[in-house]
Amino acid sequence: MPESPESVPPKEAPKEEPVAEMDAAAADDSVRPGSLDDFIGQNELRANLRVYLGAAKERGRALDHVLFCGNPGLGKTTLAQIMAVELGVNFVSTSGPVLERAGDLAAILTNLGRHDILFVDEIHRMPIVVEEVLYPAMEDFKLDLVVGQGPAARTVKIDLDPFTLVGATTRMGLISSPLRDRFGIVAHLEFYSAEDLARVVRRTATILRVELRPEAAIEIGRRARGTPRIANRLLRRVRDFAVMHGDGTVTGELASAALTRMGVDDSGLDQMDRKLLKALVNNFGGGPVGVKTLAVACSEEVRTIEDIYEPFLIQSGFIKRTSRGRMATPKAFKHVGERPPTDWLTMAEAAAGRGRSEPSDEQDAPEGTEGSEQERNDS
Ligand SMILES: Nc1ncnc2c1ncn2[C@@H]1O[C@H](COP(=O)(O)OP(=O)(O)OP(=O)(O)O)[C@@H](O)[C@H]1O
Ligand SMILES: [Mg+2]
Repeated sequence: MPESPESVPPKEAPKEEPVAEMDAAAADDSVRPGSLDDFIGQNELRANLRVYLGAAKERGRALDHVLFCGNPGLGKTTLAQIMAVELGVNFVSTSGPVLERAGDLAAILTNLGRHDILFVDEIHRMPIVVEEVLYPAMEDFKLDLVVGQGPAARTVKIDLDPFTLVGATTRMGLISSPLRDRFGIVAHLEFYSAEDLARVVRRTATILRVELRPEAAIEIGRRARGTPRIANRLLRRVRDFAVMHGDGTVTGELASAALTRMGVDDSGLDQMDRKLLKALVNNFGGGPVGVKTLAVACSEEVRTIEDIYEPFLIQSGFIKRTSRGRMATPKAFKHVGERPPTDWLTMAEAAAGRGRSEPSDEQDAPEGTEGSEQERNDS
């Protein structure tokens, strides 16, 4: 391969790459930024967190409880860990579905040290009995535990050390309002810009000792669905192509070809995204159609569509969420090589407003709300 003038000279012979065979979680950990300075993008949130962390340290108080919401892979766990590092406290991690009984949470809470961070991932999936234990703990650092059963049952009050609860959720709408109201800080993580993702990829390439050209970083960043985890994953796979089909250097051209071979198209959509758009356009004339019907048509779970695929498709203007269900936009029609019907705009406006008269198959949540109490209990 010809060396271009700006190319980085190869360091040493390619090393055995120790993280290549790790599972996804370990791969995430190996490249996780360890400080706020290392954390790329989300500038406003980062600046605010810096203030809150500084103030908590200054006042010698536990940081207010924090709720992070945002799509998978945007950096919620990473930020929670960084907060513990910046505060110099322990990081204790658990998750909503793991906490089955009130006692599970009580055991964790009583073991927390002063000002420690308790991270509860997928906090929207915490059972209500556990959630109720959390209320007094968050508010007054007290536990009300019922010990024993029947007439012998009694309540024990336990004082806890002040701690900070950091909750993470991909589904803000599934958090009950009593729980949500107990968080002093609620932070939304946004999709990343292509430029920020290019920086993420460059940083990861340095850690993994991948020779990455600037154009390649931009190409991967542009096609990573606004998500650092995806950007890092694409980098790893593109690196494989570079090792097998080149000299190990990831050039822009190679990155582009490899991404296309992996089914990631020029807009960054993958096979499942395209399947969804095709179903919406070809099977349902562009919608509106309920998400459950769409899920059946794509043989995919409703939750996966709602949590993983749809947010990016909405954000990038392929799908609209209306009170009547999901609708394809003209951009989606174009993407799958179809033309929208001539009266499409009128139809879309009608669906976005009061809706048309024919029923959709289900109670799709109106725009701005997500899920329902029923769904919460189901999940
Ligand atoms: N701002 C960032 N800068 C650099 N790397 C990042 C950033 N945000 C996330 N990452 C990387 O992306 C990966 C996923 O991040 P993280 O595990 O924090 O996401 P998450 O929001 O907790 O996802 P999930 O909802 O699936 O738990 C990590 O490996 C992390 O290194
Ligand atoms: Mg996480």
